[in-house]
Amino acid sequence: MISEIRRVIGGYTHTALETTRQLLLRTLSRLIASLESPSDVIHRYGHMTLQTAAIRIGIDLGVFRLLTQAQAEGRGAVSVDGIVERNPGAGGLVLNRILRYLASIDAITQVSPTRYAANQRTRHLADKTVEAGLAHFLNTVAPQYEALPAWLAQNNYQPPADETHTAFQAAWNTHLDAFAWFAEHADHLAYFNDYMALRRQRAHDATWLSVFPVARYVRGWNPDVDRGVKESAGRKQKAVYVNVGGGIGHQCREFRERYPDVTGEVVLQDLPHSIANALETPGVVNMEFDFFEEQPVKDAKFYYMRGILHDHSPARGRVILEHTRDAMGPESILLVDEMILPETGVSQMAAAIDLTMLAALGGQERTEAQWRETLAEAGLELVETYMYAPLLYEGVMVVRRGRGVEC
Ligand SMILES: C[S@@+](CC[C@H](N)C(=O)[O-])C[C@H]1O[C@@H](n2cnc3c(N)ncnc32)[C@H](O)[C@@H]1O
Repeated sequence: MISEIRRVIGGYTHTALETTRQLLLRTLSRLIASLESPSDVIHRYGHMTLQTAAIRIGIDLGVFRLLTQAQAEGRGAVSVDGIVERNPGAGGLVLNRILRYLASIDAITQVSPTRYAANQRTRHLADKTVEAGLAHFLNTVAPQYEALPAWLAQNNYQPPADETHTAFQAAWNTHLDAFAWFAEHADHLAYFNDYMALRRQRAHDATWLSVFPVARYVRGWNPDVDRGVKESAGRKQKAVYVNVGGGIGHQCREFRERYPDVTGEVVLQDLPHSIANALETPGVVNMEFDFFEEQPVKDAKFYYMRGILHDHSPARGRVILEHTRDAMGPESILLVDEMILPETGVSQMAAAIDLTMLAALGGQERTEAQWRETLAEAGLELVETYMYAPLLYEGVMVVRRGRGVEC
Protein backbone atom coordinates (compact mmCIF):
# COMPACT_ATOMS: atom_id res chain seq x y z
CA MET A 1 0.00 0.00 0.00
CA ILE A 2 2.81 2.41 0.92
CA SER A 3 4.52 1.69 -2.38
CA GLU A 4 1.19 2.35 -4.14
CA ILE A 5 1.03 5.78 -2.45
CA ARG A 6 4.65 6.49 -3.43
CA ARG A 7 3.76 5.60 -6.99
CA VAL A 8 0.75 7.93 -6.96
CA ILE A 9 2.70 10.79 -5.35
CA GLY A 10 5.37 10.26 -7.97
CA GLY A 11 2.71 11.03 -10.57
CA TYR A 12 1.56 14.19 -8.76
CA THR A 13 2.73 16.61 -11.38
CA HIS A 14 1.07 19.68 -12.75
CA THR A 15 -0.29 17.66 -15.60
CA ALA A 16 -3.35 15.62 -14.73
CA LEU A 17 -3.20 17.25 -11.28
CA GLU A 18 -6.83 16.69 -10.38
CA THR A 19 -6.83 13.05 -11.48
CA THR A 20 -3.75 12.40 -9.38
CA ARG A 21 -5.19 14.23 -6.37
CA GLN A 22 -8.32 12.11 -6.49
CA LEU A 23 -6.34 8.92 -6.92
CA LEU A 24 -4.23 9.88 -3.93
CA LEU A 25 -7.29 10.53 -1.76
CA ARG A 26 -8.77 7.17 -2.75
CA THR A 27 -5.52 5.35 -2.05
CA LEU A 28 -5.09 7.03 1.35
CA SER A 29 -8.68 6.21 2.24
CA ARG A 30 -7.97 2.53 1.49
CA LEU A 31 -4.83 2.74 3.60
CA ILE A 32 -6.81 4.14 6.55
CA ALA A 33 -9.41 1.38 6.17
CA SER A 34 -6.66 -1.26 6.15
CA LEU A 35 -5.22 0.09 9.43
CA GLU A 36 -8.45 0.37 11.40
CA SER A 37 -9.29 -1.90 14.34
CA PRO A 38 -12.89 -2.99 15.13
CA SER A 39 -13.02 -0.27 17.79
CA ASP A 40 -11.90 2.33 15.22
CA VAL A 41 -14.74 1.21 12.96
CA ILE A 42 -17.29 1.64 15.78
CA HIS A 43 -16.08 5.15 16.47
CA ARG A 44 -15.71 6.09 12.81
CA TYR A 45 -19.32 5.32 11.94
CA GLY A 46 -20.81 5.79 15.40
CA HIS A 47 -19.52 9.36 15.64
CA MET A 48 -20.11 10.36 12.05
CA THR A 49 -23.24 12.34 12.85
CA LEU A 50 -21.42 13.96 15.79
CA GLN A 51 -18.86 15.23 13.30
CA THR A 52 -21.53 16.91 11.21
CA ALA A 53 -23.21 18.26 14.37
CA ALA A 54 -19.93 19.79 15.53
CA ILE A 55 -19.30 21.33 12.11
CA ARG A 56 -22.74 22.85 12.23
CA ILE A 57 -22.05 24.28 15.71
CA GLY A 58 -18.77 25.66 14.37
CA ILE A 59 -20.60 27.39 11.50
CA ASP A 60 -23.33 28.70 13.85
CA LEU A 61 -20.65 30.24 16.10
CA GLY A 62 -18.67 31.62 13.16
CA VAL A 63 -15.57 29.70 14.32
CA PHE A 64 -14.24 28.88 10.85
CA ARG A 65 -14.65 32.38 9.51
CA LEU A 66 -13.13 33.90 12.65
CA LEU A 67 -10.03 31.70 12.60
CA THR A 68 -9.60 32.14 8.84
CA GLN A 69 -9.91 35.90 9.12
CA ALA A 70 -7.44 36.07 12.03
CA GLN A 71 -4.93 34.12 9.99
CA ALA A 72 -5.44 36.29 6.89
CA GLU A 73 -4.84 39.40 9.02
CA GLY A 74 -1.66 37.91 10.49
CA ARG A 75 -3.13 37.65 14.02
CA GLY A 76 -2.50 33.90 14.20
CA ALA A 77 -4.36 31.80 16.77
CA VAL A 78 -7.60 32.89 18.48
CA SER A 79 -8.41 32.22 22.13
CA VAL A 80 -11.67 30.73 23.38
CA ASP A 81 -12.37 34.15 24.92
CA GLY A 82 -12.06 35.69 21.45
CA ILE A 83 -14.77 33.33 20.20
CA VAL A 84 -16.97 34.04 23.27
CA GLU A 85 -16.58 37.76 22.50
CA ARG A 86 -18.20 37.15 19.10
CA ASN A 87 -20.97 35.09 20.71
CA PRO A 88 -21.97 37.05 23.83
CA GLY A 89 -23.39 34.84 26.56
CA ALA A 90 -21.85 31.61 25.19
CA GLY A 91 -20.18 29.51 27.90
CA GLY A 92 -16.40 29.33 27.45
CA LEU A 93 -16.10 25.87 28.99
CA VAL A 94 -18.56 24.18 26.64
CA LEU A 95 -17.13 26.13 23.74
CA ASN A 96 -13.63 24.90 24.48
CA ARG A 97 -14.88 21.30 24.54
CA ILE A 98 -16.42 21.80 21.11
CA LEU A 99 -13.27 23.44 19.77
CA ARG A 100 -11.17 20.59 21.17
CA TYR A 101 -13.38 18.11 19.33
CA LEU A 102 -13.20 20.14 16.10
CA ALA A 103 -9.41 20.05 16.44
CA SER A 104 -9.52 16.27 16.98
CA ILE A 105 -11.23 15.86 13.58
CA ASP A 106 -8.76 18.31 11.98
CA ALA A 107 -11.42 20.91 11.22
CA ILE A 108 -9.24 23.42 13.14
CA THR A 109 -5.81 23.24 14.78
CA GLN A 110 -5.25 23.48 18.55
CA VAL A 111 -2.08 25.41 19.40
CA SER A 112 -2.44 25.59 23.22
CA PRO A 113 -5.09 24.38 25.71
CA THR A 114 -7.35 27.35 24.86
CA ARG A 115 -6.07 28.71 21.55
CA TYR A 116 -6.94 27.59 18.03
CA ALA A 117 -5.83 28.38 14.50
CA ALA A 118 -7.09 27.84 10.97
CA ASN A 119 -5.76 25.03 8.80
CA GLN A 120 -6.62 24.23 5.18
CA ARG A 121 -9.88 22.51 6.12
CA THR A 122 -10.88 25.48 8.30
CA ARG A 123 -10.35 27.79 5.35
CA HIS A 124 -12.54 25.57 3.18
CA LEU A 125 -15.22 25.56 5.89
CA ALA A 126 -15.19 29.37 5.89
CA ASP A 127 -15.88 29.45 2.15
CA LYS A 128 -19.39 30.58 1.22
CA THR A 129 -19.95 27.73 -1.25
CA VAL A 130 -19.01 25.16 1.38
CA GLU A 131 -21.25 26.91 3.92
CA ALA A 132 -24.16 26.90 1.46
CA GLY A 133 -23.61 23.20 0.67
CA LEU A 134 -23.45 22.27 4.33
CA ALA A 135 -26.55 24.35 5.13
CA HIS A 136 -28.40 22.31 2.47
CA PHE A 137 -27.04 18.91 3.51
CA LEU A 138 -27.25 19.39 7.26
CA ASN A 139 -30.62 21.14 7.38
CA THR A 140 -32.51 19.48 4.55
CA VAL A 141 -30.83 16.26 3.44
CA ALA A 142 -29.58 14.72 6.70
CA PRO A 143 -33.08 13.83 8.01
CA GLN A 144 -33.72 11.93 4.76
CA TYR A 145 -30.61 9.81 5.26
CA GLU A 146 -31.83 9.01 8.76
CA ALA A 147 -35.22 7.95 7.41
CA LEU A 148 -33.80 5.87 4.54
CA PRO A 149 -33.05 2.52 6.27
CA ALA A 150 -36.57 2.14 7.71
CA TRP A 151 -38.18 3.41 4.50
CA LEU A 152 -36.28 0.89 2.36
CA ALA A 153 -37.04 -1.99 4.75
CA GLN A 154 -40.74 -1.11 4.75
CA ASN A 155 -40.77 -0.96 0.96
CA ASN A 156 -38.84 -4.17 0.41
CA TYR A 157 -35.91 -2.28 -1.15
CA GLN A 158 -37.95 -1.49 -4.25
CA PRO A 159 -37.38 1.81 -6.09
CA PRO A 160 -39.98 4.46 -5.22
CA ALA A 161 -42.88 4.65 -7.67
CA ASP A 162 -42.74 8.43 -7.72
CA GLU A 163 -41.43 11.45 -5.84
CA THR A 164 -44.31 11.49 -3.34
CA HIS A 165 -43.41 8.06 -1.98
CA THR A 166 -39.81 8.34 -0.80
CA ALA A 167 -37.82 8.69 2.41
CA PHE A 168 -38.31 12.45 2.03
CA GLN A 169 -42.00 12.23 3.02
CA ALA A 170 -41.09 10.07 6.03
CA ALA A 171 -38.33 12.47 7.08
CA TRP A 172 -40.43 15.61 6.82
CA ASN A 173 -43.82 14.12 7.66
CA THR A 174 -45.36 15.52 4.50
CA HIS A 175 -47.33 14.31 1.49
CA LEU A 176 -45.67 16.85 -0.77
CA ASP A 177 -42.82 16.05 -3.12
CA ALA A 178 -39.51 17.76 -2.33
CA PHE A 179 -39.95 20.63 -4.81
CA ALA A 180 -43.52 21.40 -3.71
CA TRP A 181 -42.31 21.25 -0.11
CA PHE A 182 -39.49 23.69 -0.94
CA ALA A 183 -42.09 26.17 -2.18
CA GLU A 184 -43.50 26.24 1.37
CA HIS A 185 -40.11 26.35 3.11
CA ALA A 186 -38.32 29.44 1.91
CA ASP A 187 -35.26 28.94 4.14
CA HIS A 188 -34.63 25.42 2.84
CA LEU A 189 -35.24 26.58 -0.74
CA ALA A 190 -32.68 29.36 -0.27
CA TYR A 191 -30.01 26.89 0.99
CA PHE A 192 -30.71 24.69 -2.04
CA ASN A 193 -30.67 27.47 -4.62
CA ASP A 194 -27.51 29.05 -3.15
CA TYR A 195 -25.74 25.75 -3.14
CA MET A 196 -26.76 24.86 -6.70
CA ALA A 197 -25.70 28.25 -8.06
CA LEU A 198 -22.42 28.51 -6.14
CA ARG A 199 -21.46 24.87 -6.64
CA ARG A 200 -21.75 25.19 -10.38
CA GLN A 201 -19.72 28.39 -10.42
CA ARG A 202 -17.01 26.81 -8.35
CA ALA A 203 -16.85 23.13 -9.21
CA HIS A 204 -14.89 23.54 -12.42
CA ASP A 205 -14.69 26.04 -15.21
CA ALA A 206 -16.07 23.63 -17.74
CA THR A 207 -19.77 23.55 -18.55
CA TRP A 208 -21.56 22.01 -21.52
CA LEU A 209 -20.90 25.28 -23.38
CA SER A 210 -17.15 24.71 -23.17
CA VAL A 211 -17.38 21.52 -25.24
CA PHE A 212 -20.60 21.60 -27.23
CA PRO A 213 -20.32 23.16 -30.73
CA VAL A 214 -23.38 25.44 -30.62
CA ALA A 215 -22.32 27.35 -33.73
CA ARG A 216 -22.04 24.18 -35.79
CA TYR A 217 -25.49 23.01 -34.72
CA VAL A 218 -27.26 26.32 -35.45
CA ARG A 219 -25.58 26.85 -38.83
CA GLY A 220 -28.34 27.07 -41.43
CA TRP A 221 -31.09 26.93 -38.82
CA ASN A 222 -33.78 29.58 -39.27
CA PRO A 223 -35.69 30.73 -36.18
CA ASP A 224 -38.40 32.57 -38.11
CA VAL A 225 -41.69 30.82 -37.70
CA ASP A 226 -42.98 29.87 -41.09
CA ARG A 227 -46.06 28.12 -42.25
CA GLY A 228 -46.39 24.55 -41.26
CA VAL A 229 -44.37 24.96 -38.09
CA LYS A 230 -46.22 23.85 -34.97
CA GLU A 231 -47.97 26.65 -33.08
CA SER A 232 -45.40 27.71 -30.48
CA ALA A 233 -47.07 29.63 -27.66
CA GLY A 234 -48.01 32.36 -30.18
CA ARG A 235 -44.38 33.30 -30.88
CA LYS A 236 -43.00 34.83 -34.06
CA GLN A 237 -39.58 33.31 -33.61
CA LYS A 238 -38.72 29.81 -32.64
CA ALA A 239 -36.67 29.39 -29.52
CA VAL A 240 -33.02 28.54 -29.96
CA TYR A 241 -32.50 27.39 -26.36
CA VAL A 242 -35.14 26.27 -23.87
CA ASN A 243 -33.74 25.47 -20.45
CA VAL A 244 -36.31 23.12 -18.93
CA GLY A 245 -36.18 23.29 -15.11
CA GLY A 246 -33.43 25.88 -15.44
CA GLY A 247 -33.61 27.16 -11.86
CA ILE A 248 -33.30 30.92 -11.62
CA GLY A 249 -31.61 31.34 -14.99
CA HIS A 250 -27.81 31.32 -14.58
CA GLN A 251 -27.34 29.09 -17.61
CA CYS A 252 -29.73 31.07 -19.81
CA ARG A 253 -27.72 34.16 -18.97
CA GLU A 254 -24.49 32.33 -19.79
CA PHE A 255 -25.90 31.13 -23.12
CA ARG A 256 -27.11 34.62 -24.09
CA GLU A 257 -23.81 36.25 -23.10
CA ARG A 258 -21.74 33.66 -24.90
CA TYR A 259 -23.86 33.66 -28.04
CA PRO A 260 -25.30 37.19 -28.39
CA ASP A 261 -25.50 36.80 -32.17
CA VAL A 262 -27.33 33.50 -32.27
CA THR A 263 -30.89 34.39 -33.21
CA GLY A 264 -34.00 32.83 -31.70
CA GLU A 265 -35.44 33.16 -28.22
CA VAL A 266 -33.77 31.92 -25.07
CA VAL A 267 -36.40 30.62 -22.67
CA LEU A 268 -36.06 29.77 -19.00
CA GLN A 269 -38.74 27.40 -17.70
CA ASP A 270 -39.27 26.48 -14.08
CA LEU A 271 -41.91 26.34 -11.36
CA PRO A 272 -43.52 29.61 -10.23
CA HIS A 273 -41.40 29.90 -7.05
CA SER A 274 -38.17 29.78 -9.09
CA ILE A 275 -39.46 32.10 -11.81
CA ALA A 276 -40.49 34.60 -9.11
CA ASN A 277 -36.80 34.77 -8.10
CA ALA A 278 -35.37 34.45 -11.62
CA LEU A 279 -32.63 36.71 -12.98
CA GLU A 280 -33.84 39.33 -15.42
CA THR A 281 -31.55 38.87 -18.41
CA PRO A 282 -32.09 40.88 -21.60
CA GLY A 283 -33.01 38.46 -24.37
CA VAL A 284 -34.20 35.75 -21.98
CA VAL A 285 -37.90 34.97 -21.51
CA ASN A 286 -38.71 33.69 -18.01
CA MET A 287 -41.65 31.30 -18.20
CA GLU A 288 -43.58 29.42 -15.52
CA PHE A 289 -43.91 25.84 -16.65
CA ASP A 290 -44.55 22.47 -15.07
CA PHE A 291 -42.55 19.90 -17.03
CA PHE A 292 -45.13 17.21 -16.35
CA GLU A 293 -47.48 19.19 -18.61
CA GLU A 294 -47.40 19.62 -22.39
CA GLN A 295 -44.33 21.60 -23.53
CA PRO A 296 -45.76 24.90 -24.89
CA VAL A 297 -42.59 25.95 -26.78
CA LYS A 298 -42.59 23.90 -29.96
CA ASP A 299 -39.87 23.20 -32.48
CA ALA A 300 -37.03 24.85 -30.56
CA LYS A 301 -33.48 24.17 -31.70
CA PHE A 302 -32.21 23.03 -28.28
CA TYR A 303 -34.26 21.71 -25.40
CA TYR A 304 -31.80 21.47 -22.55
CA MET A 305 -32.12 19.78 -19.15
CA ARG A 306 -29.42 19.69 -16.53
CA GLY A 307 -29.90 17.68 -13.37
CA ILE A 308 -33.59 17.15 -14.12
CA LEU A 309 -34.00 13.51 -15.12
CA HIS A 310 -31.85 12.20 -12.27
CA ASP A 311 -34.34 13.87 -9.90
CA HIS A 312 -37.26 11.65 -10.91
CA SER A 313 -38.35 8.03 -10.95
CA PRO A 314 -38.04 6.36 -14.38
CA ALA A 315 -41.81 6.57 -14.88
CA ARG A 316 -41.98 10.28 -14.09
CA GLY A 317 -38.83 11.00 -16.10
CA ARG A 318 -40.47 9.34 -19.06
CA VAL A 319 -43.39 11.78 -18.84
CA ILE A 320 -40.95 14.73 -19.01
CA LEU A 321 -39.14 13.16 -21.97
CA GLU A 322 -42.34 12.36 -23.85
CA HIS A 323 -43.62 15.94 -23.52
CA THR A 324 -40.28 17.18 -24.85
CA ARG A 325 -40.28 14.65 -27.68
CA ASP A 326 -43.79 15.74 -28.70
CA ALA A 327 -42.69 19.39 -28.92
CA MET A 328 -39.57 18.60 -30.96
CA GLY A 329 -39.51 19.32 -34.67
CA PRO A 330 -37.28 17.67 -37.28
CA GLU A 331 -34.37 20.01 -36.47
CA SER A 332 -34.78 19.97 -32.71
CA ILE A 333 -32.22 18.44 -30.40
CA LEU A 334 -32.63 17.51 -26.79
CA LEU A 335 -29.52 18.07 -24.69
CA VAL A 336 -29.41 16.01 -21.52
CA ASP A 337 -26.72 17.29 -19.18
CA GLU A 338 -26.17 14.67 -16.46
CA MET A 339 -23.66 12.33 -14.91
CA ILE A 340 -22.87 9.30 -17.05
CA LEU A 341 -21.55 6.72 -14.62
CA PRO A 342 -18.93 4.12 -15.42
CA GLU A 343 -20.04 0.49 -15.05
CA THR A 344 -17.60 -0.11 -12.16
CA GLY A 345 -15.48 1.90 -9.71
CA VAL A 346 -17.92 4.80 -9.33
CA SER A 347 -16.53 7.47 -7.00
CA GLN A 348 -17.92 7.87 -3.50
CA MET A 349 -19.33 11.27 -4.37
CA ALA A 350 -21.26 10.05 -7.40
CA ALA A 351 -22.55 6.95 -5.59
CA ALA A 352 -23.68 9.20 -2.71
CA ILE A 353 -25.51 11.56 -5.08
CA ASP A 354 -27.27 8.52 -6.56
CA LEU A 355 -28.55 7.44 -3.12
CA THR A 356 -29.44 11.02 -2.24
CA MET A 357 -31.67 11.09 -5.33
CA LEU A 358 -33.23 7.79 -4.25
CA ALA A 359 -34.00 9.13 -0.76
CA ALA A 360 -35.22 12.57 -1.79
CA LEU A 361 -37.08 12.04 -5.05
CA GLY A 362 -36.98 8.41 -6.14
CA GLY A 363 -34.45 9.45 -8.79
CA GLN A 364 -31.22 7.82 -9.88
CA GLU A 365 -27.90 8.32 -11.67
CA ARG A 366 -27.31 6.23 -14.79
CA THR A 367 -24.63 4.54 -16.86
CA GLU A 368 -24.56 5.16 -20.61
CA ALA A 369 -26.43 1.90 -21.23
CA GLN A 370 -29.12 2.98 -18.75
CA TRP A 371 -29.40 6.39 -20.41
CA ARG A 372 -29.85 4.76 -23.81
CA GLU A 373 -32.59 2.55 -22.40
CA THR A 374 -34.36 5.45 -20.62
CA LEU A 375 -34.30 7.56 -23.78
CA ALA A 376 -35.37 4.72 -26.05
CA GLU A 377 -38.40 4.05 -23.83
CA ALA A 378 -39.54 7.60 -24.59
CA GLY A 379 -38.97 7.24 -28.35
CA LEU A 380 -35.64 9.09 -28.28
CA GLU A 381 -32.16 8.20 -29.39
CA LEU A 382 -28.78 9.10 -27.92
CA VAL A 383 -26.64 10.25 -30.84
CA GLU A 384 -23.41 11.46 -29.26
CA THR A 385 -21.97 12.60 -25.95
CA TYR A 386 -19.66 15.48 -25.05
CA MET A 387 -17.97 14.99 -21.68
CA TYR A 388 -16.97 18.31 -20.08
CA ALA A 389 -15.96 17.16 -16.57
CA PRO A 390 -14.88 13.54 -16.96
CA LEU A 391 -13.70 13.18 -13.36
CA LEU A 392 -17.20 14.03 -12.18
CA TYR A 393 -18.65 11.94 -15.04
CA GLU A 394 -20.46 15.05 -16.29
CA GLY A 395 -21.35 15.35 -19.91
CA VAL A 396 -24.04 16.50 -22.28
CA MET A 397 -25.87 13.92 -24.37
CA VAL A 398 -27.19 14.87 -27.79
CA VAL A 399 -30.58 13.26 -28.27
CA ARG A 400 -32.89 13.14 -31.29
CA ARG A 401 -36.32 11.73 -31.89
CA GLY A 402 -36.01 8.05 -32.52
CA ARG A 403 -36.46 6.68 -36.00
CA GLY A 404 -40.10 6.06 -36.72
CA VAL A 405 -41.35 8.72 -34.27
CA GLU A 406 -43.40 11.21 -36.27
CA CYS A 407 -43.06 14.98 -35.79
C1 LIG B 1 -31.69 20.03 -9.48
S1 LIG B 1 -32.44 21.53 -9.93
C2 LIG B 1 -31.57 21.87 -11.41
C3 LIG B 1 -31.60 23.32 -11.78
C4 LIG B 1 -30.81 23.67 -13.04
N1 LIG B 1 -31.22 22.89 -14.18
C5 LIG B 1 -29.32 23.54 -12.80
O1 LIG B 1 -28.72 22.60 -13.31
O2 LIG B 1 -28.76 24.39 -12.08
C6 LIG B 1 -34.04 21.03 -10.49
C7 LIG B 1 -34.89 22.18 -10.99
O3 LIG B 1 -36.12 21.63 -11.49
C8 LIG B 1 -37.17 22.48 -11.09
N2 LIG B 1 -38.42 21.72 -11.09
C9 LIG B 1 -38.79 20.76 -10.21
N3 LIG B 1 -40.01 20.27 -10.55
C10 LIG B 1 -40.39 20.95 -11.65
C11 LIG B 1 -41.55 20.89 -12.48
N4 LIG B 1 -42.53 20.04 -12.22
N5 LIG B 1 -41.62 21.71 -13.53
C12 LIG B 1 -40.59 22.58 -13.82
N6 LIG B 1 -39.47 22.69 -13.06
C13 LIG B 1 -39.38 21.88 -11.99
C14 LIG B 1 -36.75 22.96 -9.72
O4 LIG B 1 -37.45 24.13 -9.33
C15 LIG B 1 -35.25 23.17 -9.92
O5 LIG B 1 -34.97 24.47 -10.37
